[in-house]
Amino acid sequence: MSKVILTGDRPTGRLHVGHYAGSLKRRVELQNSGEYDKIFIMIADAQALTDNADNPEKVRQNIIEVALDYLSCGLDPEKSTLFIQSQIPELCELSFYYMNLVTVSRLQRNPTVKSEIQMRNFETSIPVGFFTYPISQAADITAFHATTVPVGEDQAPMIEQTKEIVHKFNSVYGETLTDPSILLPDSQACMRLPGIDGKAKMSKSLNNCIYLSDSEEEVRQKVMSMFTDPGHLRVQDPGKVEGNPVFIYLEAFCRDDQFARYLPEYRNLQELKDHYSRGGLGDVKVKKFLNQVMQEELEPIRTRRREFEKRIPEIYEILRKGSEVAQAEAAKTLSEVKRAMKINYFEDAALIREQTERFASGC
Ligand code: TRP
Repeated sequence: MSKVILTGDRPTGRLHVGHYAGSLKRRVELQNSGEYDKIFIMIADAQALTDNADNPEKVRQNIIEVALDYLSCGLDPEKSTLFIQSQIPELCELSFYYMNLVTVSRLQRNPTVKSEIQMRNFETSIPVGFFTYPISQAADITAFHATTVPVGEDQAPMIEQTKEIVHKFNSVYGETLTDPSILLPDSQACMRLPGIDGKAKMSKSLNNCIYLSDSEEEVRQKVMSMFTDPGHLRVQDPGKVEGNPVFIYLEAFCRDDQFARYLPEYRNLQELKDHYSRGGLGDVKVKKFLNQVMQEELEPIRTRRREFEKRIPEIYEILRKGSEVAQAEAAKTLSEVKRAMKINYFEDAALIREQTERFASGC
């Protein structure tokens, strides 16, 4: 069986280091591993519209931001198909048929949908499109026969729901769809990168993100203002490393060789943590190191972004061509689905023959 990746992001803002640690960095590694036969990376504008229906301009503006973030992180259109969800009408058609296989109560139990409804104060008036977006996400994944879906932990319930739809479809209509597997980040720190204010999640509305496109100075200021252990008042006080954003970021991003270069008095993160826990290590010193680590990670991304920003028409062209490739792929799956569901009347020679005979025999 061929190995296929599908994943994507909603274009509701520029991507931040949470997206990067949680998924984007891994995608680039998977792309360059050469282990996958096909890789599809989708800008999920139709999904973004499910809770931004009244703000199409926001979605429109952010498509290019997300594309720039993708390219500057190293996603390569020669190796990965980058495309825009709304340009693939087959996805709507698949969703429509999958809707018959999912109950309202099952959607109500989807933990991601539940928490998003709360976050958006949708309790009293949930848009139907928003409520059913897990079904459309199942269409995204199955349209490409994806075997692997690299996403953050928050997307696990979506993949669960997709798997259920696949099983149901295959058991009702016969083996047609591919059962996908989720691929989670390989460390806890990457999975749950907090905001710079220490809140559980980075989010634009909380204004606690470090963006991939932030300038060197913006990154420095954000790192230096990061929330740490509120009990660590004086340098000599013992500090807490668990749940301390500065250490979670170091966990996600720093490497041992960076200690040799920037903080040679420690060999690795464990030694730095031990000193902080013991007391005698100030936040400023740790933050300065984190800034160096972050700059090293983000500098090449920033430089590439500046280059791509000079080639905007070319980027739309990449997305247009990618959407064409993706559409052809989804069309193949849709025709398999319609065949399985027996709604491919005009290609069904047996049906036409059967009906001819039925009427000829007069019964
Ligand atoms: N729900 C994802 C997000 O909010 C975006 C997305 C849409 C997606 N369709 C997908 C991710 C299919 C993986 C697979 O970021």
